[in-house]
Amino acid sequence: MTRRNQINIRELGYTYRYFRDLCPSYLKFAASIAGFRFSLAPLSYLELGFGQGVSINIHAAACDGVFWGSDYNPAQVAFAQSLATASGARVELLADSFEQLARRDDLPTFNMITLHGIWTWISESDRAHIIELVRRKLAPGGLLYVSHNSLTGWAKMLPLRKLMFAHAQMAGGPDEPLTTKVRHAIEFVQSLHDVGAKHAQTNPGAVAQLQALRAKSDTYLAHEFFSDNWTPTAFLDVVAQFGEADLSFVGTTHLMDTLEGFSMPQPAQRLLESISDPVLREATREYLIDATFRKDVFIKTPERLSAREQDEALLDTQFVLAAGIDETPMQARNSTGAVNLDPGHFRPILEALAANDHAPKSLRELAKAGVLRGEDVRQMAGEVIALLSGPVVFVVGNRAPSELLHAQCSALNRRICELAIYDGGELRDVASPVVGGGVPVGESEQLFLLGYLQGAADPASCAAFAWKCVATRVRAERGDIAGDDAISRLTEHARAFMSGRLPILKALGVI
Ligand SMILES: C[S@@+](CC[C@H](N)C(=O)[O-])C[C@H]1O[C@@H](n2cnc3c(N)ncnc32)[C@H](O)[C@@H]1O
Repeated sequence: MTRRNQINIRELGYTYRYFRDLCPSYLKFAASIAGFRFSLAPLSYLELGFGQGVSINIHAAACDGVFWGSDYNPAQVAFAQSLATASGARVELLADSFEQLARRDDLPTFNMITLHGIWTWISESDRAHIIELVRRKLAPGGLLYVSHNSLTGWAKMLPLRKLMFAHAQMAGGPDEPLTTKVRHAIEFVQSLHDVGAKHAQTNPGAVAQLQALRAKSDTYLAHEFFSDNWTPTAFLDVVAQFGEADLSFVGTTHLMDTLEGFSMPQPAQRLLESISDPVLREATREYLIDATFRKDVFIKTPERLSAREQDEALLDTQFVLAAGIDETPMQARNSTGAVNLDPGHFRPILEALAANDHAPKSLRELAKAGVLRGEDVRQMAGEVIALLSGPVVFVVGNRAPSELLHAQCSALNRRICELAIYDGGELRDVASPVVGGGVPVGESEQLFLLGYLQGAADPASCAAFAWKCVATRVRAERGDIAGDDAISRLTEHARAFMSGRLPILKALGVI
């Protein structure tokens, strides 16, 4: 009998990333852009398979509402619970499998259910449990966000993945760490390409995809390809699957993809516009851009906004700039790449957003300020979407958040910054009650924030605090580093942080 190594992906903890696509105010904006009604108040939110629980904790701390989440990895649930204890926010974190969750009779009804990085990596029966849960527990008018690997962009990799998985199971020592098995499996497939594998010759796209993957970390590759299931799915099949729970496709959180002229050439765009059925149009778009990853929004029994209602919903949406203008990348990202933005056009929008100490501005206010060039509301929203696709412009959840939200976010952020002492800033985002979600703050900035909260009032003291926190770890990782040099570099960085980013983070309610 052939020997089979155990491939247990749970050996490797999941990353600590925050995902803006799961943010309630961003999802509401995505629904408005698609032209559908969705109300956030009162919010009752469920995240399925929350990983380390960074996103759910940030949302529970930063938004009014009821939050539930589940993940069957007990170590991850324990970490997520430690964040919830720190923030004091109301959030139920369950260590249930999807099957157990679907069987519970104590769940409330939700109006938002999200699952990111799940659909492709679970079994058919788990997908059925989720569909049943959504059918029973998502309220009419409720919104579902689901991301998944698209069959269109990944089809050519299916046989390679199968072979890599088999290699990890059947070759190498049973005691090898999973990351070693993964690296060997990738190199094995590469060696087949090197000796002229016919599949590689007839599928040049697979060769290019493998090349790109070889540059990724072993942990990423393990999570992406070495769980028991890896089922890239056709968009049309995902529509049919959630159709069983009475959900209809309404749009995407890849908002740049909804703008004309950004993601494909004119003739393709014209062809797409000639298709009236939204599902067929989307399936065609997937093919035109060879999509690899989809981020779809569904609504249960959706209700279309009239053109006037949609304009009002967009004009009322508020935005905030979470960094200095010079720190804002002049690039917009769509699902297929990046496009440079004309500073002559976009810098005035950033200046308007930065005015009045970065106070939130509605689309209506930006239009009144005369910085938008669009001829209609949708085009004006498109200009802001280009900025939203970068890392520092956000949809606002709450222009004037309550004391409670402020307190929850400050407490959570203090904990996140404390963790930077030990983990090298693996958590890259903190909670803002104004955004109602996360904003990125790098490792040294987290340490400066912590120092500031502990009374370091000037750049030199913040830098000395930061160095004291990390000196031992940094020296162990990177060799002996002179303390004076490190502190002087950190002091420069802290000076820029205290005069630039710190006041903005305060305006966002981060501390
Ligand atoms: C690829 S990770 C994604 C985590 C998180 N959503 C993110 O994007 O960062 C998949 C997560 O789903 C969880 N998971 C997988 N199968 C599950 C199941 N049957 N029941 C509950 N959780 C499951 C895993 O423990 C893991 O945390």
